[in-house]
Amino acid sequence: MRITVIGCGYLGTTHAAGMAELGYEVLGVEVSPTQLATLTEGRAPFYEPDLEPLLRRHVDSGALRFTDSYEEAGAFGDVHFLCVGTPQQAQGLGADLSQVEGSVRSLAPHLRDGALVVGKSTVPVGTAERLAEILAEDAPSARLGWNPEFLREGYAVQDTLHPDRLVFGVSEPSVESTLREVYAKVLAEDTPVVVTDFATAELVKVSANAFLATKISFINAVAEVCELTGADVVDLADALGHDNRIGRRFLNAGVGFGGGCLPKDVRAFQHRAGELGADHLMSLLRDVDAINTHRRESVVSQAREMLGTIAGSRVAVLGAAFKPDSDDIRDSPALWVAGQLHLAGAQVSVHDPQAMDNARKRFPTLGYVDSPVTACEDADLVLHLTEWPQFREIDPQELASVVRRRQVLDGRNVLDPARWRAAGWTFRGMGRR
Ligand code: UGA
Repeated sequence: MRITVIGCGYLGTTHAAGMAELGYEVLGVEVSPTQLATLTEGRAPFYEPDLEPLLRRHVDSGALRFTDSYEEAGAFGDVHFLCVGTPQQAQGLGADLSQVEGSVRSLAPHLRDGALVVGKSTVPVGTAERLAEILAEDAPSARLGWNPEFLREGYAVQDTLHPDRLVFGVSEPSVESTLREVYAKVLAEDTPVVVTDFATAELVKVSANAFLATKISFINAVAEVCELTGADVVDLADALGHDNRIGRRFLNAGVGFGGGCLPKDVRAFQHRAGELGADHLMSLLRDVDAINTHRRESVVSQAREMLGTIAGSRVAVLGAAFKPDSDDIRDSPALWVAGQLHLAGAQVSVHDPQAMDNARKRFPTLGYVDSPVTACEDADLVLHLTEWPQFREIDPQELASVVRRRQVLDGRNVLDPARWRAAGWTFRGMGRR
């Protein structure tokens, strides 16, 4: 069986390398010339632990190749995974489906008889039905399946090769059997599989991300109550987490969620719920998004309180990526806060172990430095906004000698308040005592 992966961004590159690792011959389709050149050399166009060695090994062996030609892809593949992006629309909250529809229209005329097209991109419910109609026009013998992806950045390879579960949205039994064949090695590890219809498969994915976002916004809303009452949200989350029905994960209060997935998926689901007249879900998700934005604003207003006046002050921002082990700065809370403080007149110095190049390109007016200590030189306030392990290891005693004022705000609630206070720092967390 030969496999193509259409769209080699985050999801597609990892999926292509993962499929090669499972033993298939794989052809990745990427239309961006720079991205294509990077991939062809066996290099990853972004930072993701464990991905590059995998990519290089399979490119070197010839099992994994890349092209920009849909014609070549159609002739090559038995199974075609759609991994193109579904960003937020430029005007509005809904998902922009132009890449998904465009790639199916480009591929369809070249498909071989009986080929299987499998959607992995995150889409609004109802999209697969529409793509099935497009395929029926241009490639009547082609089949469609929906197999959403749940990988997390930072764990993308592990999540691809050893997922928590597989979901197969199918409209005929032969699609299920082809997907079972593709994933035979993964299923042999007793990975749970849910076989369902297109609409449910599409909804599983957006519901999973909406639920994770809701969990984070819930604890962040409770963090606000903690701030008003002198309670401590970290102790509270630990205690909640001991209840197996709730669990401790995704209950870390702080500056909130960002990235290329949770924020836009919450908004797209909110938009789709509105279109369908599911008003309760729409308003729940609107609040989840509003709470999240409010936490970012709260960091800015706490910074203002700590600084007195923002204009003319010097602020060190530790972190630029939307989360650790990633160089992804899409909708990053850290850079949102840094940008607001810069606009209000602060001199902002940012350090991140991996995301500096991306941040510099996107926000060229912020200051960037090569180490966390340099970022903190003469700072009036240190903001810890992405929880890289190396920031946790900073010695507050040593850092005290380089700053102008010993003030720190931990926007991720992972620094040890007692240690920082013992070194003479004014320490604030998010929803902490
Ligand atoms: C998310 C989902 O977790 C994946 O399952 C999904 O496949 C992926 O989106 C996607 O749709 O492609 P990811 O964007 O890599 O994965 O990031 P998460 O680990 O979910 O973190 C999202 C954001 O939430 C980060 O900014 C993180 O710092 C924040 N977060 C997470 C919190 O603020 N608190 C928490 O307790 C957990």
